[in-house]
Amino acid sequence: MEPPATAPPVEYHPSQSYRIALIPGDNIGPEVTAEARKVLEAAARRFGLLLAFETFPWGAQHYLDTGAVMPEDGLERLRRFDAIYLGAMGDPARLPDRVLSWGFTQRVRKRFRQYVNLRPVRLWPGVRSPLAAPGEIDLVVVRENAEGEYTNIGGALYMEQPEELAIQTSVYTRQGIERVVRYAFDLARRRRRHVTSISKANALPFGMALWDRIFAEVAERYPDVETRRLNVDAAAMFLIHRPSEVDVLVCANLFGDILSDEAAAIAGGIGLAPGANINPEGDYPSMFEPIHGSAPDIAGRGMANPIAAVLAAALLLRHLGATAADTRTTHAAQAIEAAVGAVLRRGAVRTPDLGGHSTTREVGDAICAALAG
Ligand code: IPM
Ligand code: MG
Repeated sequence: MEPPATAPPVEYHPSQSYRIALIPGDNIGPEVTAEARKVLEAAARRFGLLLAFETFPWGAQHYLDTGAVMPEDGLERLRRFDAIYLGAMGDPARLPDRVLSWGFTQRVRKRFRQYVNLRPVRLWPGVRSPLAAPGEIDLVVVRENAEGEYTNIGGALYMEQPEELAIQTSVYTRQGIERVVRYAFDLARRRRRHVTSISKANALPFGMALWDRIFAEVAERYPDVETRRLNVDAAAMFLIHRPSEVDVLVCANLFGDILSDEAAAIAGGIGLAPGANINPEGDYPSMFEPIHGSAPDIAGRGMANPIAAVLAAALLLRHLGATAADTRTTHAAQAIEAAVGAVLRRGAVRTPDLGGHSTTREVGDAICAALAG
């Protein structure tokens, strides 16, 4: 008798099969995540990648239903994925934003040692900058993502009394500054070999003096990379006057939050700006998200620009490709970026933030079509 037919052993290619946790979140979060997923699936088909998605319904509604933004074992569950994709969380009419930020985003960033917040900003051909003469803009904000002003250390006294006070403590450590500055220099070596460091030691003589000192120490070890040091107020002007002179910009957490929105605005708006929360050692999954929020004012109207979300998905593939030395995945990321570039250059399909009349879905479809060739 024939032995029972068994399936041949499946060869497992860890570099080509990735598990991705999707957390669409609130308001426009699910709308843009749907397009990002569609584009990822189109890229996977074209490049033969195996992507396995699992969706988690965490965010404001989950909090209102259960009293927690995510379940108690949420971090443990996320830990098993190769990457995390976050749409956007926030529903300020029903829940203060800080509940979601500290209940999810900050927890993941800190617990998974995602100490680099990477925010590439490009002025894409075909996109209008609000600046009269922007020149070419192609920069990356490397934002410290674990400490600084985002420590949740502090307290309040005499709340709602005339003498009430609040203390909000910032923390800067040698290790925390050094590792992110080194990341910035390593990144600059793969780009135009220039790093701009932002600080403010004239007003913050402890934390920012430490930042400046460590930046100078690390810079010594990269003699082939040019540097510039700016105080954050001057940096805010520099970005308006001479954005094309910025290559890699490295700064503390809150400065990076502010300057990355500014940089995105001069390059056509936050509807185009992706972000990555990276654990460079690869000990934990990294998390990818558009830098914009949940935009309740335009939610449910099909008018959100999905490009920031799509580019965040490309960053996700780039990261997986680099970590696993898997060129197919890297090529898929490049193809998504090229498809976005083609759609923006042609200009026929764009959402209202870019002066067009197309819907979120139409932009996603156009990117998929460009990706198919
Ligand atoms: C961002 C956001 C968050 C931040 C908010 C939601 C806490 O603005 O990712 O830039 O400040 O980090
Ligand atoms: Mg921000």
